[in-house]
Amino acid sequence: MKSILDNRPALAKEVNKVAEVAGYLWQKGWAERNGGNITINITEFVDDEIKALPAISDVTSIGTTLPNLKGCYFYCKGTNMRMRDLARWPMENGSVIRILDDCASYVIIADQPVKPTSELPSHLSMHNFLIGKGSNYKASLHTHPIDLIAMTHHKPFLEKDVLTNLLWSMIPETKAFCPRGLGIIPYKLPSSVELAQATIAELKEYDVVMWEKHGVCAVGIDIMDAFDQVDVLSKSAQIYMTSKNMGFEPGGMSAEQMQEMTVAFNLPK
Ligand code: 13P
Ligand code: ZN
Repeated sequence: MKSILDNRPALAKEVNKVAEVAGYLWQKGWAERNGGNITINITEFVDDEIKALPAISDVTSIGTTLPNLKGCYFYCKGTNMRMRDLARWPMENGSVIRILDDCASYVIIADQPVKPTSELPSHLSMHNFLIGKGSNYKASLHTHPIDLIAMTHHKPFLEKDVLTNLLWSMIPETKAFCPRGLGIIPYKLPSSVELAQATIAELKEYDVVMWEKHGVCAVGIDIMDAFDQVDVLSKSAQIYMTSKNMGFEPGGMSAEQMQEMTVAFNLPK
């Protein structure tokens, strides 16, 4: 079957990275059933032939108006599709959409009419925000890591930057590779525009945010970058949990050690 990826190696490379990450999400136990979703902004790879492709779906409302997305194209995981299937067949478990000129609706253009993820309002709001601030980030990831979600069931951890500082202090690399920390978004209905709005409010300060009792959302240069930030946070959560399971409260790196590495790695705060 013909695919939009045929003879477009640069585009195929980005979609293949999504497939690779989808496999990691499944292997990590973060992607039960259809859990989690990925979108990537592929507008830079769009040529005249893609621009001329007809719609293969009805015009569908996003639910919100996103002025920076006019004429943009995204690869999106399909709603109800499994990460473990997407890992092998990305174009059967996801599709490419074109944002229409009203900036409030989209059509699917390739390869098949696979309906995009139910979290599209959050994903597209994040891309709209990133474009607005001139960011070079192209990827957005939502996933369900057991350890990080469990931590959001404990009220004291929901206070601003309590988890950021706790997770940073478990191992030096976490601050180095997730330097903006972990934002917290109080529980909101999945797939809602309210969740999307709360998410972009936190993106001003963070590249990774927790959706209380639901999951994590991360943005990055590409999907590997978004995944790596969640992975280092999850590693820290595992170290915390393992220490607790061994019967003690982990000491964490000291304020002096944190400060020393912040300066040495030239980190923001
Ligand atoms: P989708 O299958 O619609 O992508 O939803 C999965 C999910 O995790 C919703 O938050
Ligand atoms: Zn989810």
